[in-house]
Amino acid sequence: MPPLPDTRGRPLSDLRISVTDRCNFRCPYCMPAAIYGEQYAFLPKPELLTFEEIERLARLFIELGVRKIRITGGEPLLRAELPKLIEGLAAIEGLEDLTLTTNGALLAGRAQALKDAGLRRVTVSLDSHDEAVFRRMSGREIGPRRVLEGIEAADKAGLRPVKVNCVVQRGANEDDLVALARFFKGTGHVLRFIEFMDVGTLNDWNLAKVVTASEILERIAAEFPLEPDPPRYRGEVARRYRYRDGSGEIGVITSVSAPFCGDCTRARLTTDGKLVTCLFAARGTDLRGPLRVGASNDALRARIAAVWRARTDRYSEERSAHTDLSGRTLPRARIEMYQIGG
Ligand code: GTP
Ligand code: 5AD
Ligand code: SF4
Ligand code: SF4
Repeated sequence: MPPLPDTRGRPLSDLRISVTDRCNFRCPYCMPAAIYGEQYAFLPKPELLTFEEIERLARLFIELGVRKIRITGGEPLLRAELPKLIEGLAAIEGLEDLTLTTNGALLAGRAQALKDAGLRRVTVSLDSHDEAVFRRMSGREIGPRRVLEGIEAADKAGLRPVKVNCVVQRGANEDDLVALARFFKGTGHVLRFIEFMDVGTLNDWNLAKVVTASEILERIAAEFPLEPDPPRYRGEVARRYRYRDGSGEIGVITSVSAPFCGDCTRARLTTDGKLVTCLFAARGTDLRGPLRVGASNDALRARIAAVWRARTDRYSEERSAHTDLSGRTLPRARIEMYQIGG
């Protein structure tokens, strides 16, 4: 099957599947505790795609050209029996990469089972390894220790290379970056700094809170000299740099200062079965409905292909049109980050 291009010639080659909208953290930039309290109604179980449904859809996406699947949430490790899903996905012919993004809190106890089920590697979010900063940024009364143990367990289980994602926010963790780099330097784990984005509607984003990749690199390079490394594949989200002393690499994700929509080959499947073609989309296309009333594989594949062929998204490239002079995002309907897993 030749690659399926959208209106800008971008092939459908990655699929990010959200398996739950729940999370055990309350990062203020994603699920602020004041809104997502004890009483908050997350999706009831019948709304979630079952593993059989996810596998069936994944197979169709792979037939349409998807080569890489990333499992996300919310926090994906909260989904019961996740290794069973991994096992099903890993067995699909044509899939070349199967990975997962987690906050790491439950990873230490699950890493081996995930590896045994066929997961290739993991990406763990860690905004700081400082106790107080971590607590503030995760919105929970737990420190970074469990996450760090999770990273080590993943490495030991062979879920390598472990990537560590740090969202950088001005005034929150900007002073921890060099320490974090020092901490992971030489471990083989790949630390990536992400510019704080205006995803969702809740994080009170403005440009002043963004620390740009060039500033991040400047801070790190002042301590540990760096040199750029070429991308490993077309559409790689992170720009890679290696330490000149040979002790590993870091990455920066420049979604605000240098958007990468031109190479964006990612589709997203929400927990309740909607196909979303941009992280900043206002809505998705329902696949669960047709699936549950007995649509054939051909009909479902045609629906997915039609959405992708018509895709025009390039939000990050157009961001300035959605941002006012003071750098605030203008009100606009948007899916929340925890519904599509970044
Ligand atoms: P690798 O497969 O390991 O190279 O990882 P990746 O960079 O594709 O995936 P990851 O989920 O770790 O992406 C890192 C972060 O980049 C995400 O959590 C988002 O914050 C951001 N990101 C990923 N994809 C997109 C995208 O399509 N658009 C924008 N604007 N940001 C994205
Ligand atoms: N900007 C950038 N990254 C974000 N993430 C969550 N919200 C934002 C945001 N506003 C990151 C998480 C995690 C990944 C799924 O997305 O920290 O690493
Ligand atoms: Fe949970 Fe990730 Fe959102 Fe934090 S950013 S609340 S860990 S889904
Ligand atoms: Fe892709 Fe949308 Fe992100 Fe651009 S803003 S890179 S189109 S997900």
